[in-house]
This record gives sequence, structure tokens and C-alpha cells, in this order.
Amino acid sequence: MKTPTVTRAAVLLLGCLMASVGEQTPSFLKVCHRSDPKLDECVMASVEGLRSHLVTGIPELRIPSCEPLEIKQLVLNQGHGAVSLTSTYKDIKVYGPTGFRLDAIRIDLDKKRVHIQLWLPALRMTSHYKITGRILILPITGSGYSEGNYTDINATCSLQGEHIDINGRTHFSVKYFDVKFSVGDAQLFLGDLFNGDKDLGDAMNLFLNRNWRNVAVDLQPLLEAQIGELLKMFSNNIYHKFTLDQLLPP
Ligand SMILES: *[C@@H]1O[C@H](CO)[C@@H](O)[C@H](O)[C@H]1NC(C)=O
Ligand SMILES: *[C@@H]1O[C@H](CO)[C@@H](O)[C@H](O)[C@H]1NC(C)=O
Repeated sequence: MKTPTVTRAAVLLLGCLMASVGEQTPSFLKVCHRSDPKLDECVMASVEGLRSHLVTGIPELRIPSCEPLEIKQLVLNQGHGAVSLTSTYKDIKVYGPTGFRLDAIRIDLDKKRVHIQLWLPALRMTSHYKITGRILILPITGSGYSEGNYTDINATCSLQGEHIDINGRTHFSVKYFDVKFSVGDAQLFLGDLFNGDKDLGDAMNLFLNRNWRNVAVDLQPLLEAQIGELLKMFSNNIYHKFTLDQLLPP
């Protein structure tokens, strides 16, 4: 079997390719053949070749730039543990995703599995947040501008795919998209906490920056699940538009 994952690894990693890709063959991709004994290497090169397209976008396919990557909304609700909160992040902009370094891609065509390991030197995220709840022992509430700078990020993605039939043609489709990451350092800022009370807001930001690792323990699995869902959606957007034979010919 094959895994158009190849291509899609490229695409989906970056996750920018939402909307309408159209019917063209993916000329922006270096095509790999599934019979290639060095398929993993070919796909890695294909992903590398895609990077510049992800920076600029691909206007003829109406694929917007992934720099920054824009995400409409993320909801993180965490009900138990040391962190208990309801939070929403809107109009998220992620700067830096195309700066990834691809460390490994392993494709198992028979099992329709793909494993991707990559590293990002830095990501910067801005959004409009709304939060209410408790972090460690402290109550927190606020809504406004937020940003975070993250450095030294290792990410591991494991995809389980399947073949599906769309209009009589075989397509690859992602069933599960597991993401795990590990962050070296983080700097966070939440504006207008506590209805704009500056002293309380400054104290909370200081607290968050000193304790972000403890907070992340509870929030990260949620975030990983949400990012996995997003990437699954982005990738299936591509996979469902191009047939398996277009993405990964025999
Ligand atoms: C990322 O992976 C590299 C290589 O395995 C390691 O040296 C580094 O410490 C890792 N960083 C984090 C934040 O996990
Ligand atoms: C994040 O980095 C930008 C530019 O590199 C800087 O202007 C901003 O103050 C940083 N934000 C935080 C919360 O450290």
C-alpha cells in the first residue's frame, strides 16, 4: 500500500493548506514513487522543497502563506488537576513554523503509518484570549491580547492512515494524528488580566513565567490533542483532493 503521506507530510506538517486546492496535480511537490527503495529520503527532500512554497503560499492553488500560520480558534478546558480552567484563544497567529528542521521521516506503506520527527528553533504565537479558572493555587481571570515565545521545540508526529474511496478513486486518509512535543523554554504574556488590574496582572504574568513547566504538564496533552486534530484536518484536506496515485505514484 502506499501512503500519500509523503507529500502530505510536507503539507500537513505545516498545516497551512486549508481550503481549495483544486483539481491540479501537485506540481509544487517533488513526487516520490512508492516503489522507491529510499522512499523516506525522497519524502524528506520533498518536504524540504515544499518549505519555500509554504512561506510564500501557492496562489494558483489558493494556498495561503504559512508564515504566519493562522488558526481561527483553540479551546482548552481543563477540569481537574493543579490547573483548572476554561480558556479560548482566537485569531491565533503562529510565527516560525516554516523554520522547522526535519530530523526523520519513516514511512511504513504496508501499515499505512508515518512517523515524523522535527525540530523548531522558535515559535511566536499571538492571539486574543479569554480565560477563567485556577492555576496551581491562584485564581485567574482575564481577556485580551496574549503572546508566547517558545524555543527549542522537538515534535514527534505519528500518523495512522487508511485508504478511502472518493468518486471511485483511492485516496489516503488520516485516521489518527498523534502529536507530542517538548519545549525548551517559554515566555508568556497575558494582557488585561483581572479586568486590567495592573498589579495583579503583572504578578500573575511573573508567576506564569516562573511556573510555566508546571502549568504545561496539565495543559500540554490537551494542546497536543487539538493540534493533532488540526493537522489531521489540514492533511485530509490535501489527501482528499489528490488521489493516492497523484501524490505517491507506483
Ligand atoms: C530536542 O532534541 C534534541 C536532540 O535529541 C535534544 O538535544 C534537546 O535537548 C531536545 N530539546 C527538548 C526541549 O526536548
Ligand atoms: C516575544 O518576542 C518578541 C520579538 O522577538 C518580543 O517583542 C516580545 O516582547 C516577546 N514576548 C514575550 C512575552 O517575551
